[in-house]
Amino acid sequence: MKKVLTYGTFDLLHHGHIRLLERAKALGDYLVVGVTSDTFDRARGKLNVQQSLMERINNVKRTGLADQIIVEEYEGQKIDDIKRLGIDIFTVGSDWKGHFDYLKEYCQVVYLDRTAGISSTELRCERQEISIGLVGEASSLNKFERESHYVNGANIVGVYAQHTTQFNEAVMHLPIQAHSLDELLDHVDAVYIISNPIYHYEQIRQALSRHKHVLCESPVALSVKQMHELFQMAKDNHCVLMDALRTAHSTAFHRMLLLVKSGIIGDVVTMDAVCTSLLDIEEDKKSDTAKNWNSICSWGPTAMLPIFQLLGTDYREKKIVSRIINEKTLFDSFTKISFIYPHAVASIKVGVGAKSEGQMVISGTKAYIWVPAPWWKMDYFEVKYEDPNENHRFFYQLDGEGIRAEILHFIKMVQNENTLPTIDYQISEGIVKVIEDYYQQKDCVKI
Ligand code: CTP
Repeated sequence: MKKVLTYGTFDLLHHGHIRLLERAKALGDYLVVGVTSDTFDRARGKLNVQQSLMERINNVKRTGLADQIIVEEYEGQKIDDIKRLGIDIFTVGSDWKGHFDYLKEYCQVVYLDRTAGISSTELRCERQEISIGLVGEASSLNKFERESHYVNGANIVGVYAQHTTQFNEAVMHLPIQAHSLDELLDHVDAVYIISNPIYHYEQIRQALSRHKHVLCESPVALSVKQMHELFQMAKDNHCVLMDALRTAHSTAFHRMLLLVKSGIIGDVVTMDAVCTSLLDIEEDKKSDTAKNWNSICSWGPTAMLPIFQLLGTDYREKKIVSRIINEKTLFDSFTKISFIYPHAVASIKVGVGAKSEGQMVISGTKAYIWVPAPWWKMDYFEVKYEDPNENHRFFYQLDGEGIRAEILHFIKMVQNENTLPTIDYQISEGIVKVIEDYYQQKDCVKI
């Protein structure tokens, strides 16, 4: 019996796939089809796959062409599969020509002509494309623009920045260079806001009132009341309002949370998250309107995220200790916050005018988690025990600092695919509450 093996993602199964499977089957007597797992696809940079592994397997099954279906989970698995299953012929489409010649050592390799004029990528693009406008002047607009190219369905068309002099190269070529937010909103379905948080409330309101979807860098507002109003407005207008915190989209971060929740380090006793980035804040010392984001707005949401996700937002008390360099704008060059829970204490240290090791440590009754700097771009962490022989290391590829996955998530939410927000409303609310208290100088101490 001649055994044939082929692999693919088989997303949104189309006639190109079916023709390939038919011809693969005709090469022998028994066809094994390898369907790539979601994790493997993500690891090799294929982020836009629309259907889950189960849906894709079921689609291949329904063709009736596969005698056996296996899942492809890791780099190099093809060699293992060929040996294990006793494969005689390995085949794929001609788009891979030459790529799998190394398998000739194990079996015959056949490249079949690819069917012209159809691909999963094209089908994904045919789904509703969302045109996005950028609002703000942070340098990370460039990164956002660059990462959007990896996401099917996201099309960045324009930008609005209050200080046009700060425009930077990647966004300068965008077709729409708007002079007002209103002008930008004329041309887009959605906006990504990364302006100074003091403008967020007004800008989000304006976008939502015109039925545009909003992805806004956290914090979405500077008071809980305003935040409630914005989310209610989004709901009433059938729009997505998503709190943007790219760390939440790191696979390593997500897996780390799951491990801690499943008790791997015992009960969490203390957590310390540190985020700093030195900026030139000379102007912010005197200026009436902040030039840079202050420390608590720049880094507070990111640093609070893991604490609220693991310990909740129901802390007993908190103490906010800040070094304030401008009383009028309440610009903090550094802030440390301690959150006291019934059985744990957590702290964040954030600064744009102080430098420290940007690591995170979560200590438990059995072990601790250590995430090296910069922990907010997490792709690696360690679980450390008293006995170092028990230590475990974990690595998960992170592409585009999490921005890519964040844009993809936003697009899915806009396309109405029953996608839930990555950050619970309660957590966004907890973050905004702390920032509101800071601006009201509640639970605050100045140093
Ligand atoms: N294939 C084909 N003809 C097409 C599309 C795909 O013969 N028009 C073949 C590929 O060469 C591969 C298999 O079908 O051997 C599975 O391809 P897959 O990558 O899942 O599909 P694509 O449509 O190429 O997906 P994408 O656009 O995401 O690359």
